[in-house]
Amino acid sequence: MSRDYVKVRGLSVSYLRAGTLRKDRFQALTKVSFEIEHNECFALVGESGSGKSTVARALLGLTRIDEGTARIGSFTVPGLDARQWREFRREVQVVFQDPYLSLNPRLSVGTLIEEPLIIHGVARAERRERVADVVRRVRLEPELLAGRPAQLSGGQRQRVCIARALVLRPRLLIADEPVSALDLSVQASIIDLLAELKEETGLTLLFISHDLELVQFIADRIGVLYGGRLIEVGSAAEVMEDPLHPYTKSLLAAVPGRLTSAVSQAPSALPPRSAPSNTGCPYGTNCSLTDMKCQYSGPPLVMATPTHRVACYKAQAEKPPTTIAPVEGPLHGG
Ligand SMILES: Nc1ncnc2c1ncn2[C@@H]1O[C@H](COP(=O)(O)OP(=O)(O)O)[C@@H](O)[C@H]1O
Ligand SMILES: [Mg+2]
Repeated sequence: MSRDYVKVRGLSVSYLRAGTLRKDRFQALTKVSFEIEHNECFALVGESGSGKSTVARALLGLTRIDEGTARIGSFTVPGLDARQWREFRREVQVVFQDPYLSLNPRLSVGTLIEEPLIIHGVARAERRERVADVVRRVRLEPELLAGRPAQLSGGQRQRVCIARALVLRPRLLIADEPVSALDLSVQASIIDLLAELKEETGLTLLFISHDLELVQFIADRIGVLYGGRLIEVGSAAEVMEDPLHPYTKSLLAAVPGRLTSAVSQAPSALPPRSAPSNTGCPYGTNCSLTDMKCQYSGPPLVMATPTHRVACYKAQAEKPPTTIAPVEGPLHGG
């Protein structure tokens, strides 16, 4: 019945502040909800510190979830036992930002790609076949397999990381800033590769980036995080061409000709002057439209169109009231 492969509902995560009293926690995510359809690329965008990696870590079981759930295929996090985690790790793979840190420098490239199969007990003959297949898919020259990661360029290393992730034939790939450490010239080729792999293999993608401009080349839908809250979600076209939240608008407006990185250049993309409010709108202190209502209670994420949701009273007021319907379920701010 459900087209969604991933369904995140009301995800909240907090961290203990270093060197403070036990109860003093930093709210990294507040009631984040989104879904990703089978074979869709959902891009999660937001400035540094907005909570993007925390979403990835929560989905992967690498950080404690205070509240909410994430259903991924037939798995629901939290709540998996050891055996389920093992199955989960075949189905869900991750690629991180820094291909330098992710690869053991002492192993050959071929061994690095084969390693996940060894760990998961795949037989030798099948390992060979799968490694050859994935090496071809990520367009790595087979001659490189005998070498070490240090001999590779940044782009080649990230291809090795992608190969390692895909060799287990996962259904979901979480890519956390996968091109941010790479030269601009190489970024496009990695984005193209991920888009191709998605088409060829039916992969579902959670693509995390601080760069709204960049994600339009791969995303089917975009979610914008600010201060640990999802403030806008829509199709890539809706968010890029008809942004509704003042923060999303500022990201796009700040880019002359929209040719370069939006988030890194937006003035408001600097870390918020005051910590996002727990009760009011997280963007309130940095927003020129803010009023008492915004400060008093955080706007819920509501539908502006059947596919476009925004958490802003002002944006909602601009739309005819008949088009605004609260999103069903315990989505946001509830
Ligand atoms: N292990 C941790 N302990 C305490 N605070 C953390 C921890 N990890 C992340 N944070 C804080 O949580 C916020 C969100 O971090 P993160 O999810 O890494 O953001 P992003 O990936 O968007 O840059 C940041 O303010 C960060 O400092
Ligand atoms: Mg991050």
